[in-house]
Parts: sequence; structure tokens; C-alpha cells
Amino acid sequence: MNTVIIKIGGSTIDARGLLSELGQSIGMLSEDNFPIVVHGGGKDIAKQLDLLNKEFTFVEGMRVTDAETVNVVQMVLSGDVNKRIVNALLGENVPAAGISGVDGGLFTASKMLQKQQDIGFVGKIEQVNTAFIDLFKSARLVPVVSPVSRGSDGAIYNVNADLAASELAMALNADDLIFVSDVPGVMIDDEMRRQIHTDEIEELIAAGHITGGMIPKLRSSADAIRKGVTRVHICGWHNSETLRNELTGGETAGTVIHG
Ligand SMILES: Nc1ncnc2c1ncn2[C@@H]1O[C@H](COP(=O)(O)OP(=O)(O)OP(=O)(O)O)[C@@H](O)[C@H]1O
Ligand SMILES: [Mg+2]
Repeated sequence: MNTVIIKIGGSTIDARGLLSELGQSIGMLSEDNFPIVVHGGGKDIAKQLDLLNKEFTFVEGMRVTDAETVNVVQMVLSGDVNKRIVNALLGENVPAAGISGVDGGLFTASKMLQKQQDIGFVGKIEQVNTAFIDLFKSARLVPVVSPVSRGSDGAIYNVNADLAASELAMALNADDLIFVSDVPGVMIDDEMRRQIHTDEIEELIAAGHITGGMIPKLRSSADAIRKGVTRVHICGWHNSETLRNELTGGETAGTVIHG
């Protein structure tokens, strides 16, 4: 059985028709694939924080998260966004169920420092309860995972969705990890790179070619490759064929991360 982690980003979720195409795409996969959807929701969190007149900043692509903000993040990601995706998948007859990192103790988080700075309730994942995911696999249910997680200290942590997807991929020894974002792939000097070696990533970041949300995406990709995930792709969404194309033959319309 091929374990396939599909991470979808916040702005892609809001793209018209994408979620039903994702459902069709998952529905077209052969029986020997076990797809898992992990989602972000950066755009929706920003919208909600704006409504509440709450300012926020990022350090290397990670949102600085105080106690009030983590509540908003949980409400938006584990509530609204997660259920919108499940609803769309069910609409395409894909049996799906939504969970967050909190549920069933899927992810145990601890506080993450970014550039040695305390950025609040931002977590990294210490442990993954893979037995919980196995229940979905045996029930032939597609898990739709919000990255919000629980700390061993009992606090709720905002975990970057790319990090969560890659930790899940590593813990499950996944075959494919596909990051679907609002860019066609990794762009360097206005051109899309077809391939990036894990050893180039820190240099590209230091040289300023990779910024914002692409930083955690590439670092998570490198971790996944180093820990044995077979294929890691970063791509945009084209149509309901996208997923199948990314899987068969390991070809990608975007960027392949390799070791
Ligand atoms: N070299 C680069 N190539 C492509 N995109 C880049 C690059 N450097 C920075 N980016 C930015 O990274 C963004 C993608 O990361 P972002 O975190 O915004 O989206 P996401 O991870 O898909 O969604 P979410 O964070 O909601 O899960 C792109 O929209 C782009 O602005
Ligand atoms: Mg992101």
C-alpha cells in the first residue's frame, strides 16, 4: 500500500473548484493508495485576525502566536477549513473524516524557537501517534488533518502545516509527500526549478532566493527526504488529473526535492 500525503495550502483551498477537483483526484487513485490530506489555512487565519483587529508578524515564515491568536488559529483551521475540505470530499463520494493534531493525541508538540526567539504558541512535533492513523487506513477513510496540536504541557500549539505533513510522512514511512501551493513550484530568478538538492536549500535561503512560507516548506521537504520518504514534490494545482500525474512515474509539473 502506497501512503500518499497531500498537503494543501491556504490560498489553494479558496481557489474555485479546487476542493471538488481534489475529491475527484483522490477518488481516481487506485485501491493500493492510502491518501492523507494535511491542510494549512494561512489566508483564512489572516482574514479572521484582521476582523479582530489583531496584528501579527512572521519570523522566517512562522507566525508569531500569542494565546489569543492560537485560539483563532484553532477555530479557523480545525473548525472552518477542516470541515470545508471534508464536506467537499464527501461531495465527491470520498469517505473522509476530519481530525486535528489534538485529536487522539495524533501530534504531541513542544515549543519551537525560531532564530533563537520565543514566538509564542508555535510548536514542533515531538511524537506522532501512527496507530490512530492506522484506524483510518483499516476503515478506508481519508483523514483530513489540521496541524493544530497539543503540547505535553497541555497547551494548544500552532504547528506549520508543512512541518506537520512532513512529520506525518516520516512517521508513516510515506511513499509520496506532495505540497500543493499557490505557486507552480520553487522559483529562482523568475524561473521554476525542476529539481532542488537537499544540500542547496540553506544556501538558497541565505542568498534570499527563498522567503516566507517557502522556507518551512523546503526545510520540511529536506527532512522528509533525509528520513526516507521516497518522493517529495512542490507543485501548483492544475486540474483533477494533477494528483495522478504527480504520483505516476514520480513526474511532477513542479519541483522535485532530492537527496
Ligand atoms: N523561491 C520561491 N518560490 C516560490 N514561492 C516562494 C519563493 N519564496 C517565497 N515564496 C512564497 O511562498 C509562498 C508559499 O508559501 P505559503 O506558506 O504562503 O503557502 P502554503 O504553505 O501553500 O499555504 P499555508 O501556509 O496556508 O499552508 C508563495 O506564495 C510565495 O509567495
Ligand atoms: Mg505555508
